[in-house]
Amino acid sequence: MEKRKIRDQVYWLGAVDWDRRLFDSLIPLPDGTSYNAYLIQGSERTVLTDSVDPTKADTLLTQLQTVPRVDYVIAHHAEQDHSGSIPLVLERYPEARVIATPKGVDMLIDHLLIPAERFMAVEDGETLSLGDKTLTFVHTPWVHWPETMVTYLAEERMLFTCDFFGSHLATSDLYVTDEGRVYEAAKRYYAEIMMPFRRVIQRNLDKLAGYEIDLIAPSHGPVYDRPEFILDAYRDWTSETPKNVAVVPYISTHGSTRKMVEHLVGALAARDVTVYQFDLAVTDIGKLAISLVDAATIIIGTPTIHVGPHPAVFYAAHLANALRPKARFASIVGSYGWNSKAVEQIAGLIPNLKVELLEPVLCRGHPQDVDFAALDRLAEEVAERHETLQ
Ligand code: FEO
Repeated sequence: MEKRKIRDQVYWLGAVDWDRRLFDSLIPLPDGTSYNAYLIQGSERTVLTDSVDPTKADTLLTQLQTVPRVDYVIAHHAEQDHSGSIPLVLERYPEARVIATPKGVDMLIDHLLIPAERFMAVEDGETLSLGDKTLTFVHTPWVHWPETMVTYLAEERMLFTCDFFGSHLATSDLYVTDEGRVYEAAKRYYAEIMMPFRRVIQRNLDKLAGYEIDLIAPSHGPVYDRPEFILDAYRDWTSETPKNVAVVPYISTHGSTRKMVEHLVGALAARDVTVYQFDLAVTDIGKLAISLVDAATIIIGTPTIHVGPHPAVFYAAHLANALRPKARFASIVGSYGWNSKAVEQIAGLIPNLKVELLEPVLCRGHPQDVDFAALDRLAEEVAERHETLQ
């Protein structure tokens, strides 16, 4: 794709990665992704914001062929999908310097071995004149590494945010055209990458409230020409109060735990609790992460294998613990053969979740009436707790 004009002397550059299906060898990318860089040509100086994943460096360098001079490359974030091609840009433009937060400078030296003399560290709120355009650098730590910042272009009321507000979405659209599709992709992105830093993101959102913003230009996914769409979504996702939602990740070996889960899900739905049921043997782990953004309750279903939970449950519990969702309640259901320490072991896996543990329901072998009655009581307890949410 060629560079595309956004505003007078402001362009999108970058690469759409239609076929990538995994990020960090961990995160599923069902819709691919993009690596957006932006070119801002002031009357006196020219700036490139970020770069692209090294696998797409040729695309960016081709787009830059008609750009005779770059004075600065802003590295909002040191992760290589944005910074990885900066060394090649610096080779192309020997006069260019890299702008980053002080922490970003250190990280870029560590990760990319860029010589220290090529950097210009900027403090929070510092400005840079490009002649007829003015940039302000706003430190926004932990979106999602400690060194991150965003840049405000005052004359165009445009905010360049790198990962912040991004979405893993390969699209030919420069701007958001299908808000439903982008909402899902941006929520997935928030869930998988930003959610552990929910409270610091709240503070970053408060900080940005002082800026008049017409456009938000992230480095993944399309540009937001209706910024309130994504700002409102982030305010909702980072808010303190979970919703009337229960998430039930489970796995079953011979069907008993599945029968328990299906009964429980029906009992929750009958009490007007919104439920998401995920079979961990086949689920897209990103869908599970999305559901954790709003969930008030997490109920894990597992059979007992070698006394403890199924290995897939270990993984899901570890993931939930790392993502630190705002859930308030948790429980465990499942079947075992002759003995089980599943509850104790799962509880030990989720110390970061500040949840009240509701009475687990474990049964030996196939569930019977007494077990289904216990599941009904658990559903009732969940529904009652959800009525107290605020
Ligand atoms: Fe898109 Fe944290 O890199």
